[in-house]
Amino acid sequence: MRKHIVAGNWKMNNDLAQTEDLVSDLKKQSKTSDAEVMIAPATTNLWHAFQSVREDDIEVIAQNMHFAENGAYTGEVSASMLKSIGIKTVILGHSERRAYFNETDASLAKKVDAALSNDMRVIFCFGEELADRKSGNEATVVESQIKNALFHLDADAFEHIVLAYEPVWAIGTGETASPEQAQDMHAFIRKTLSNKYGNTVANNVSILYGGSVKPNNAKEIFGKPDVDGGLIGGASLKAEDFYAIVNAF
Ligand code: 13P
Repeated sequence: MRKHIVAGNWKMNNDLAQTEDLVSDLKKQSKTSDAEVMIAPATTNLWHAFQSVREDDIEVIAQNMHFAENGAYTGEVSASMLKSIGIKTVILGHSERRAYFNETDASLAKKVDAALSNDMRVIFCFGEELADRKSGNEATVVESQIKNALFHLDADAFEHIVLAYEPVWAIGTGETASPEQAQDMHAFIRKTLSNKYGNTVANNVSILYGGSVKPNNAKEIFGKPDVDGGLIGGASLKAEDFYAIVNAF
């Protein structure tokens, strides 16, 4: 069944002391919604965060991983390494990974396979750039990102996949997709899945929206029928703001 999920992507923010502070602030917040709560600290702080939230209702997840199991990939981290410290979910395909680290649909397909074969859950990100939206190509771009990275999977795999639509023009810009734009795209994504895998798979996959979600707009965006949650950047770095978003459901 699809779930409500609110995940905080901390990106390259917060050293160990700051991670300790933010985790401790998060633990003081109370959740009044049914949303699953996740936080994605930097790799160096995953273990600390995982240890700290063990008893709490927060899952610690990774921002990225490599597709290989191990080997000569200096600077990289594998699925089994993440698993060995208790991490069960990984964000893959964030637009910043695509833009600054040359991640492609083909390399992401390999990462998705590696995560799934290690029994990890994937939050798979995609979304169009401003030029795509301006030229009316947003649906074509999103469809090809999903098809190229995910459509080699069988239907069962989608039990372990969460989708995150993050229009690049809305990330960190303060400009959000309108609730209607988000709903239209989420409905299109569900239709794309349904055409390939059928209605059951499509209706069971959680589709998150990401891009300048804040306490003052979360309720309206989350109110749309095909929006199952959010992937939150800037606003996830303040415990009160993050929980205002979590509790917007
Ligand atoms: P902002 O919420 O800062 O726009 O970031 C969104 C994002 O990239 C989450 O992955």
